[in-house]
Amino acid sequence: MSTDLTLRYMTVADVPEVVVIDEASFTPPWTARSYRFEINESNVSYMLVLEQPTQRPLTGFRRWWKNLIGSNETTEEMCTIVGYGGLWKIAEEAHISTIATHPDYRGRKLGEILLAGMIRRAIVLHARYVVLEVRVSNTVAQNLYHKYGFKMHGIKKNYYHHDHEDAYDMRLDLSGAAIATFKQQYRHLQQHNPFRDRYSRTPHPRLDR
Ligand SMILES: CC(C)(COP(=O)(O)OP(=O)(O)OC[C@H]1O[C@@H](n2cnc3c(N)ncnc32)[C@H](O)[C@@H]1OP(=O)(O)O)[C@@H](O)C(=O)NCCC(=O)NCCS
Repeated sequence: MSTDLTLRYMTVADVPEVVVIDEASFTPPWTARSYRFEINESNVSYMLVLEQPTQRPLTGFRRWWKNLIGSNETTEEMCTIVGYGGLWKIAEEAHISTIATHPDYRGRKLGEILLAGMIRRAIVLHARYVVLEVRVSNTVAQNLYHKYGFKMHGIKKNYYHHDHEDAYDMRLDLSGAAIATFKQQYRHLQQHNPFRDRYSRTPHPRLDR
């Protein structure tokens, strides 16, 4: 695993890659338009992506150009988005609106990096608690949330319009003790899965101007 992982704010240029991950992760997915709204217009939304450098084969003009200048390079380094998330901050509540990692990159602590980034952002924004909804069948995501101290807070019947599945309401209270525990978890995660965090303590390019 590369140590060059970067957590940063989502931009409009990221939307096509994010939509690919979303479509592979959720039914129904969000539209590209809803991502653009969250990035450009919403007054409460802190969207993020996690990216890592990857080698891709040179194609088209770039390959032709490299040949022309006598280079024998066949690949180039690009940044690939491996996961994304969204956090709404409304009054004292931080609400995780979405989180997903690319199916090819699951099980590598990337979901954890995204979640930890959003919890840290919520703390920086002085939220008193973090909430989210999760399908009752989605035990993988529930395990991730439990690991970071979320507790079951209730159940929302027929929450998902598409198939009427129920959702668990989960909540993490950001008390002093919970924040101290989280800080330790964040440090541990950083030590074992290094990543550059340009999200959780970085001012939002539009909302924090
Ligand atoms: C949920 C999701 C974001 C987790 O991301 P991930 O990168 O695969 O997860 P990580 O590697 O960071 O794992 C973190 C924790 O999640 C849980 N987890 C991850 N994969 C798991 C699996 N296959 N089975 C059970 N628990 C699992 C574990 O608690 C794990 O911690 P551990 O490794 O110490 O046991 C990812 O599976 C995903 O994108 N799913 C589809 C979208 C989705 O369901 N989003 C949540 C909506 S509420």
